[in-house]
Amino acid sequence: MRLDQYLATSTELSRKDAKKAITKGRVRVDGAAVRSANTQVAGNAVVELDGSVLHLPGEIYVMMNKPDGVISATTDSSQPTAVDLLPPRLATRVHIAGRLDKDTTGLLLLTSDGQWSHQVTSPRRDCPKTYQVMLAEPLSNEARVKLETGVLLRDEEKATRPATVVICSETTIELTINEGRYHQVKRMLAAVGNHVKGLHRLRIGEITLDPALAPGQYRELTEDEFRSIVR
Ligand code: URA
Repeated sequence: MRLDQYLATSTELSRKDAKKAITKGRVRVDGAAVRSANTQVAGNAVVELDGSVLHLPGEIYVMMNKPDGVISATTDSSQPTAVDLLPPRLATRVHIAGRLDKDTTGLLLLTSDGQWSHQVTSPRRDCPKTYQVMLAEPLSNEARVKLETGVLLRDEEKATRPATVVICSETTIELTINEGRYHQVKRMLAAVGNHVKGLHRLRIGEITLDPALAPGQYRELTEDEFRSIVR
């Protein structure tokens, strides 16, 4: 890892401030002052800032209440991303485990652990995702049965896996799916002649969006939440 990234990961410094601290000679690696931000740091190196030894944190597991209008990406040159909402200490290390569309809100998981995110996103792992779906029209009984049995999405040859539908109000349902195809929920509803007006993810596996999180807020997962994703 580069020295400036090491600092941004192990302290509250931004990458820019980390570079400044390095240039000013405040950082030592294995006892020697290093003034070059792109110095590569070995995993077992002792890195000090102003004489205090720094430690890289362990793996990161975060839930966020993704706001509307934010894209599920680590970086983008023109649009705000979910990762931009995290402090540099977390933002420099995480990726998104299961993207949401720009206009979809709710539970987004971010982690530094590639194996863990694979369990969340792999279609072979059967990790259910539950969405609150605001519909343009009430869901007919026929459409409900189709969603629960499996529907053929436009331009695809394989029907969706059986889903679970809970009717919440005339035009609001909770839909649980076990796959993550492109725009899957919107396309499933289009396939049964309806239209999604709003989409909010409530749950991934056993992990439920914390109601205390306002849009844009995040928190680290508890031990139980993180362990609920079986490896
Ligand atoms: N299905 C969609 O259509 N959009 C999302 O953001 C998530 C699931």
